Amino acid sequence: MCFLFLCINFWYIWSMKKLIIINGPNLNLLGKREPNIYGSLTFNEFFETVKEKYPQVSLEHFQSNVEGEIIDKLQETGFSYDGIIINAAAYTHTSIGIGDAVKAIETPVVEVHISNTFDREEFRHKSFVSPNAKGVILGFGLQSYELAIQSFL
Ligand code: DQA
Repeated sequence: MCFLFLCINFWYIWSMKKLIIINGPNLNLLGKREPNIYGSLTFNEFFETVKEKYPQVSLEHFQSNVEGEIIDKLQETGFSYDGIIINAAAYTHTSIGIGDAVKAIETPVVEVHISNTFDREEFRHKSFVSPNAKGVILGFGLQSYELAIQSFL
C-alpha cells in the first residue's frame, strides 16, 4: 500500500511539466514601472496566483537585468526543461546573443510581451527572439504569461 502510494507520488512528480519564466531587464519593477502600460501588479503577486492555478506544472521564475545571465539561464535550462517562456524585455530588440541562445537550445521557447510592442515605438517592432521561438504572445498584459503556460499543457 505504502509502495503504491510512493509509486503514484513518483509518477505525479515525474509527469509534471517543468517550465521556467525568464524575465529580462526592468521587469523586476513591475507594479511600479509605467503602470499605464504594464499594470499595477508585481510579478511575484501574479506568479503566486498562477502557481496556485496550475499545480500540475513545476513553474520557476528567473529575472535578470544582465544580458549574459539571461543567456546562461537559457543554456542551463534549454536541454532539460519542457518549456521556456521568455520576456527578454528591451533585450528582445537588441540582443543577437539572446537570439542565438534561443536558436542553440532544444527546449521550445515561447516569447511573451505584456504590451503590444507593435502598437508602440518602431524600435520595439524588431525581435531577435521571435525567429527561433515556437510562438509569440503579446499585448494581453500579464495574462500573456498565462497563455504561454497553457500553450505547453
Ligand atoms: C516588454 C516590451 C519591451 O519593448 C520593453 O522594453 C519591456 C517590456 C513587454 O513585456 O511589453 O521592457 O517586453
